[in-house]
Amino acid sequence: MNILRRGRLKNIREDVAKYTTSLEFDKEIFEADILCDIAHVIMLYEQGIIKKEHAKKIIDGLREIYKKGMENLNLDPSLDDIHMVIESELINMLGEDVAGRLHTGRSRNDQVATDLRLALRERILEILELLVDMLKDILELAKEHKETITVGYTHLQHAQPTTYAHHLLSYFSSLERDIQRLLDCYKRINISPLGSGALATTGFNISRERTKKLLGFDALIENSMDAVSTRDFILETLSNLSILGTNLSKICEELVLFSTYEFNTLEIDDAFCSTSSIMPQKKNPDVAEIARAKLSKLNGNLISALTILKALPNTYNRDLQEISPILWDSINIVRDTIKMVNGMLKTIKVNKDRMLELANANYSTATELADTLVRELDIPFRKAHGIVGEAVRKSLEKKRDLEEVVVEVLEKYNLKIDKEKIKKALNPYENVKMRKVIGGPSPEEVEKRIKIFSERVNNYDDIIKNKLEKINEVKNNLINFNIE
Ligand code: ARG
Repeated sequence: MNILRRGRLKNIREDVAKYTTSLEFDKEIFEADILCDIAHVIMLYEQGIIKKEHAKKIIDGLREIYKKGMENLNLDPSLDDIHMVIESELINMLGEDVAGRLHTGRSRNDQVATDLRLALRERILEILELLVDMLKDILELAKEHKETITVGYTHLQHAQPTTYAHHLLSYFSSLERDIQRLLDCYKRINISPLGSGALATTGFNISRERTKKLLGFDALIENSMDAVSTRDFILETLSNLSILGTNLSKICEELVLFSTYEFNTLEIDDAFCSTSSIMPQKKNPDVAEIARAKLSKLNGNLISALTILKALPNTYNRDLQEISPILWDSINIVRDTIKMVNGMLKTIKVNKDRMLELANANYSTATELADTLVRELDIPFRKAHGIVGEAVRKSLEKKRDLEEVVVEVLEKYNLKIDKEKIKKALNPYENVKMRKVIGGPSPEEVEKRIKIFSERVNNYDDIIKNKLEKINEVKNNLINFNIE
């Protein structure tokens, strides 16, 4: 017997059922749905809406279904989704007189909105944990490279000397904001739509506060039409994942670029590379490339979700169902990719000699030379910029050292400074040492940042662990709940 279609409608066509079912991706919300059911039943009993003996039996039955696992249920697509599969199973187990009372005062609309939030908050915390691990690993790597001089690029042209630690901390800072964004959006995920019914709540005297508390939500969504129809928490999540993906993709791109023969500053571990079936010498950065491409899908997913939602009228429309697989796809891509990118970074081989060679080449210290002229000769920066620029051009034209040419150019303007000062200005290590402004590359400053950053990471770690603890407590409590 199909509990959904025995009344108003006749049988559904098999191909239509397959086309419309969400069962394939409802595995993501199976556990959440059971928890949501149990909380609802506890509340129904406490509010005097269903009898104690019924509530007890229903909770026992739900526990049994949970232990059985979704794969052992009758996943009949004509039941639409996991909500009906579970209810149908329960009715088969307990009979309709008992199990038929589960759906009192609620709808699949508030149910699915609740389930998605319950499942998503855990997936977000999983991603946050991975990000925290990655940040810790980045800090460890940075500690080893505070004095590893390299060149920094703008426009992908040699710009100024820096250190590899400084470069790594740029990854840290961008990913830290991803953590902050996800934690912020968590506040808007972890709010309860349950009790909103189909759209207009219910005439039963339910307690939304009680189910909110039982499920570990931080607040209620205060308008029931909004509660069942909004998926903005998913849009926010997908946007945050897209931004995170952009930051990860940049790291991948740099790993690909810097491990080329031309740059040759980094070498990716063999475990993350592939070779060619024809060219025996090849070592290809396939993992970084695949990651770069997978991360692009996040943007497509965000656009799909935005487009599905943009012209939907209030309140529930079945279109909403199609947002769910998009969400889980993005979540899975991000979870897997963080692991890969962190794995590559953690095992990266750093070619310090090549980094220093690049920092010494191609006038990367020219800015400091101009700055030195400003300090030593009390001339305006713009004038110093012109003098050094002219010296670089002449050095290139005549294939002569900048150190000598700049003295001649200075003479032309009746200026003169100590040769040692010029030497120092042109030394990349001296450049780096001097840049101790907050956020700069000097080993001293980088050391300070590493300390401050690791305190912050520990703080995120605590916040995430607390949330996970609370969720696990809620889950244990619900799964083992005994009505006394
Ligand atoms: N499978 C549906 C979804 O994911 C559950 C809600 C169904 N509600 C309805 N009115 N058909 O959105």
